[in-house]
Amino acid sequence: MLNTNSEVLRTEIMDVLRAFNCENEDFLHYFSSACGKFFNSIEYQGKFYDFEEDFKAEDEITFKRLAKRSCKLAFYKVLAPIKGELPWGALTGIRPTKIAYAEKFANRDFKELFKSLCVIDPNISLIERILNTQKSVYSVGGTDLYVSIPFCPTKCDYCSFITAPVQKTRIYIEDYVKSVVRELYSVRPILANLKSIYIGGGTPFALENNQLAPIYAAINDICDVKCEYTVEAGRPDVFTEDKLKFAKENGVTRICVNPQSFNDKTLEAIGRKHTAKQTLEAYALTRKYGFDINIDLIAGLADETPQDFECSLKTAISLGAENITVHTLSLKSGAKLKEEVERLNVLGISEMINLSRSLLTQAGYEPYYLYRQKYQAGGLENVGWCKTGKACLYNVDTMEEISSNVAVGANAISKRYFGKEDRIERYAAPKDIPTYIAKTDKIIEERIKLFK
Ligand SMILES: C[S@@+](CC[C@H](N)C(=O)[O-])C[C@H]1O[C@@H](n2cnc3c(N)ncnc32)[C@H](O)[C@@H]1O
Ligand code: SF4
Repeated sequence: MLNTNSEVLRTEIMDVLRAFNCENEDFLHYFSSACGKFFNSIEYQGKFYDFEEDFKAEDEITFKRLAKRSCKLAFYKVLAPIKGELPWGALTGIRPTKIAYAEKFANRDFKELFKSLCVIDPNISLIERILNTQKSVYSVGGTDLYVSIPFCPTKCDYCSFITAPVQKTRIYIEDYVKSVVRELYSVRPILANLKSIYIGGGTPFALENNQLAPIYAAINDICDVKCEYTVEAGRPDVFTEDKLKFAKENGVTRICVNPQSFNDKTLEAIGRKHTAKQTLEAYALTRKYGFDINIDLIAGLADETPQDFECSLKTAISLGAENITVHTLSLKSGAKLKEEVERLNVLGISEMINLSRSLLTQAGYEPYYLYRQKYQAGGLENVGWCKTGKACLYNVDTMEEISSNVAVGANAISKRYFGKEDRIERYAAPKDIPTYIAKTDKIIEERIKLFK
């Protein structure tokens, strides 16, 4: 347990402890500042560590920012020699690029901050490349529309998303779709300057065309769909030509075909219930209808070696998808495989991520967005790669939080972006499907309040 005299710094310190998987160990921390110096004293495993650091702060906000940084770094310096260094050093949080932008807009060099927090050089260069790729799509303001479809053919063993196997939840689909459609009509007045549409999962193609039809129709009614329009169709075993044709007729421009791995042994081990051949067939069908395609891969699945992962990566590249998203396995509660976390070969996973960076770069892909999750193997990250001019606007907007996100469906989180203050306010709908259906009126009311 962390015992600190500074409650305002607790959250920041806990983030560092979590990064080292030692949030349940005992730490004693004393923080103070005097005469332009920060003092951090830490007791851990019977040893004492003292850190002293100069600082200059003209105002309270700067003081807090620097104090947070100094205590995170102090804990990092205690733990790194014992537990091993982390690729993102003492930099915590989901969105490193957002921190880099904040530094840039304050006329500071983000590289200096990242270096001072012990982020490794290749990661600093990666962030620099992402900011560069985003130049052509980074635009503050406007709105993105998200529709959540929390149904899947079956539950994959590694997955912690709030989603349910369709066998168990089939009885809710009709009412769920009705609720989503009601929500969609209610948000018509707040879709000013619509930048993109994203129907996400779960697995939207777990629904049949007649079930998706009212949702597509409502979207077409409430907005002009001549923008980027993604369906995270998902698992290849639910793709059909009819579903793709229907999506095309309804204005969809981008489809996610997700192999995770092209190795059949791995797919079986993670409970994906489809083969690599099915992925290739789904991909070919999707191409036939002229969509932009995203492919999701995960590094660290089952007992995969870097060579297994390299094969999947090379297959994805040879297909020529516009986007390839490389995830690092994250085992959160809710995933069947959570208890396997101790077995992960973290060195092997780091090698896979390094391979993905070099092979995708050689093949002409650029990194265009990045995010990190809790409990991600090796403290690594997820990176979206794109061909030139093919960055997905929706992903950039949601990661950088520079637009409002009007999100409908169970577990959907609407965010209103306040441009002047550069701040976000959120409203989260219930995760549980029957609760969501029962509370649709209340959800509509709460979102209207958020966007008033
Ligand atoms: C919201 S999921 C939906 C994708 C779709 N249902 C499918 O499985 O094809 C988006 C992506 O997150 C990634 N993902 C899911 N669980 C993960 C985990 N435990 N660790 C890392 N990435 C994960 C997968 O690559 C997945 O395609
Ligand atoms: S990985 Fe995709 S298909 Fe599998 S359970 Fe999660 S959301 Fe559903």
